[in-house]
Amino acid sequence: MQDLIEFDEQRKVFHLHNTKISYLFSVEDGNVLSHLYFGKAITKYHGQLRYPRIDRGFSGNLPGSTDRGFSRDTLPQEYSSNGTGDYRIPAVIIQHNNGSYADAFCFKNYKIENGKPQLEGLPQAYVKNPNEAQTLTVTLEDQINQIEVDLLYTIYRNRAVITRAACVKNNSKDSVTLEKVASMQLDFVAKKFDSICLPGAHANERHFDRAKIDYGVKSFESRRGTSSHHMNPFVALVDEKTDEFSGEAYGFNFVYSGNHAFQIEKDQIGQTRIVVGINDYDFSWKLDAGKTFQTPEVLLVYSANGLNEMSQEYHHIIRERVVRSKFKYQERPILVNNWEATYFDFDEEKLKPIVDEAKSLGIEMFVLDDGWFGKRDDDTSSLGDWKVYHKKFPQGLKHFSDYVHEQKLKFGIWFEPEMISIDSDLYRAHLDYLMQVPKRDPSPSRSQFVLDMSRAEVRDNIYTQMVEILDEGIDYVKWDMNRHLSDVYSLGLPPKQQGEVYHRYILGVYELLEKLTQRYPNILFEGCSGGGGRFDAGWAYYMPQSWTSDNTDAIARLTIQYGTSLAYPISTITAHVSAIPNHQTGRKTPLKTRSDVAMSGVFGYELDLTQMTLQEKNDVKEQVAFYKSIRKLVQFGDFYRLKNPTNGNQAAWMFVSSNRDEVMVFVFQILAFAQPEFTKTILVGLDEDRTYQDVVTKEEFTGLELMNLGIYDPVAQEDYTSKIYHFKALK
Ligand code: DGJ
Repeated sequence: MQDLIEFDEQRKVFHLHNTKISYLFSVEDGNVLSHLYFGKAITKYHGQLRYPRIDRGFSGNLPGSTDRGFSRDTLPQEYSSNGTGDYRIPAVIIQHNNGSYADAFCFKNYKIENGKPQLEGLPQAYVKNPNEAQTLTVTLEDQINQIEVDLLYTIYRNRAVITRAACVKNNSKDSVTLEKVASMQLDFVAKKFDSICLPGAHANERHFDRAKIDYGVKSFESRRGTSSHHMNPFVALVDEKTDEFSGEAYGFNFVYSGNHAFQIEKDQIGQTRIVVGINDYDFSWKLDAGKTFQTPEVLLVYSANGLNEMSQEYHHIIRERVVRSKFKYQERPILVNNWEATYFDFDEEKLKPIVDEAKSLGIEMFVLDDGWFGKRDDDTSSLGDWKVYHKKFPQGLKHFSDYVHEQKLKFGIWFEPEMISIDSDLYRAHLDYLMQVPKRDPSPSRSQFVLDMSRAEVRDNIYTQMVEILDEGIDYVKWDMNRHLSDVYSLGLPPKQQGEVYHRYILGVYELLEKLTQRYPNILFEGCSGGGGRFDAGWAYYMPQSWTSDNTDAIARLTIQYGTSLAYPISTITAHVSAIPNHQTGRKTPLKTRSDVAMSGVFGYELDLTQMTLQEKNDVKEQVAFYKSIRKLVQFGDFYRLKNPTNGNQAAWMFVSSNRDEVMVFVFQILAFAQPEFTKTILVGLDEDRTYQDVVTKEEFTGLELMNLGIYDPVAQEDYTSKIYHFKALK
C-alpha cells in the first residue's frame, strides 16, 4: 500500500498526496511551519521551492536573528501565532496567566498513522478501513508558555479532499483562556481569488454569491448560535476565471453547526490568507493545566476543473464518509407533510383522509408536523411538553400511527427539542432551563425561547420525553429549530466561563443527537431549522437529509437548490410540491414545474391532497410513480449544474448514473417572451461514443452530440415552465 504522506527529513518538507492532489508544507527558519502548495498532484517533489528572502520595512524578523529577509509577517504559514510579528489574522489567540496574548508556535514533532483518529463529541468525516486514508499530526509548541497545538491533516486515497482540525494542549501549570482557536489556516502566494459563499435569510437560503477578494479582511460568519440561513459554513476561493467546468477552485466546508467564521485577508503584498473555525465572537474557553481543546474539522477540496468537480467531491465525501445512518444509500420515502396543508388546525379525523389519499397516490410516508403535543393550537405554547395533545388525538398518538401503518404508510413526526415556551409545563416546573442572563428578560423570537442544552439535566429531560414517543413506532423524525440563540448564558457555568456557552450548547445538542440516533438506527432523521437554517455537514453526520427551505415556491427553490448543491449532495436536499398560490410568494406555477423542481431532490408533498382536482390527483399519481423509477439516479447519481438561475432566466442541471448508462436532464424556463432567443442545453459527463436514446421520443444521440451540439430548449408559451429529458445508453 503506497504511503499518502511523506516527510523529507533533509529538507524538512511534508508532502500529502494521492492521484488527485498534493499538499506541501515545510519547516522553515526558526521552526516556523510554512505552507508551500495545495493543488494538482505532484508525483515527485524535489523540494526546491523556498519562499524568497527580501527585507521588507515594518515586517520584523525572528528574535535573535540578524536575517532581515525573513519575517513571520509575510511568510505563508500553516497556523499563525498571535502577537509575535505576524500582523495578519491569527489562527489562535490565547491569554496566558501573566495577561499576555503572545505565542510563537514552532515545529516540535510529527506522527503519521493509517486511518483517521476520532474527534470526540464532534461530527466528522470517517474512514471505513484504515487503509483508505492516512493522518499526519504535526505538533507545534510555544516553549515559553508550554502550550502545544496539534495540527491534524487526513488525506484520503482517492479523493481530492483533505480534512483539517487543530487540538490545543495546555502543558503548563496554570489555566489559560483560549480566545480563538481556528480549525485551519491556508496561505496562498501569487493567486488572485474570487470568493463564493452561500448567504441568505429565512425562506431565502444559500444563494450563489461571487465577489472579488480585495485588500483588507472579509469575514463570512454566523453569530446566531447555529450555522444559520444567513451565511452557510461553506466558502470557496476560486480563480477569477473559474467557471463550472474549468479553473481552480478551493472549497472549505466546516463540519460544525454552531457559530462559524471564514476570515479572508489579502495582505500588504497581495497574498491571501483564509482562517476557518469557530467564531471568536463571544467565545472564550478556560483551558486548565493538562487539558486539551479539540476544534471541529474542515473539509478542504481542490478542483483544477471548476466548480462542478469541487461539488462532486463534496457530494461524495459527505454522502459516503460523513452521513452515517443506515439510510445513507437507501432510497428515501416519498412523504406528505401536513404543515402547509393544515398548519395547527387539525385533529386525527381531519388527517385521516390525507393519509387515505396519500395511500391511493402511492406516497410512502405521512409526516405529522408541528401541533400534535402539549396544548399547541398556535406557536405561542407547549414547546418542551412532548406529550400527545389529547384534544387532537383523543385515543393517543399510537392509535393514529397505527392507522397510518395500516394504510401501509410509514409514520413520521415533528419535534423541536431545543426550545421552550413560557406557556408550558416544562417551564412551570423548571424555570431555570430557559437560557437567559440573570435579572435580564430574555428576547422572544416566534414567541419561544431556547433551552440551555449545555446542561446535562436539560438534555436528559428532553431525551426521556422523546424516548417515550419514539418507542411508539415512529419511522421518521423531523428535528426543527425555529429561532436563534440570544441572551446566551448558562447557570451551569461560573461567570468567567460564559464565553463557553455557545460551543457547549452545540456540543450538548450533538451529544443528544448521538444518543438518539444510536438508540434508533431505524428512524430516518431529517434536519430542519425554519427550513434550511442548519444545513451543514455537521448536521449531516447525524441526519442524512435536511429540509432545504421553508420557501416551497418552485421558482424560489431553483436558486436555493442550485446554491445548496455547491457544497451538499442531492440526497441531503429535501424538496416538496406545495399548493398554489404559493404560501410564501403568492406565485402560481404549473403543477408539473413544481413537481420537476421537487423531483430534483428528495421528493415529497406539502399540501392537502384531498383538495386537489381529479386531474391533479392523476398527475400526482404519475409523478410519484415516475419519481420512484428515477429516485436512485437522482439521490445517488452524479449531479452537474448546467445553468445558473441566479441572474438568468433559466436553470438547468442533470444527473448521470455512475456507469453513465442513464441520464436525467432538467431545464427550467422562468419567464416567457414573445420574441424568444433560442437557447440550448449542452450536456456533460457522458460517454462520448455511446448512443443515448431519449426514453420518450426514442430519438438517438451519441454522447458527443449531446455534449457538443446539445439540445434546443423548448420555446416557453407561458411563465414558469420546465422540461425533463430521460436518456438511456443503448447496449
Ligand atoms: C418550520 C419548518 O421549516 C416548517 O416546515 C414547519 O415544520 C414549521 N417550522 C412548524 O412550526
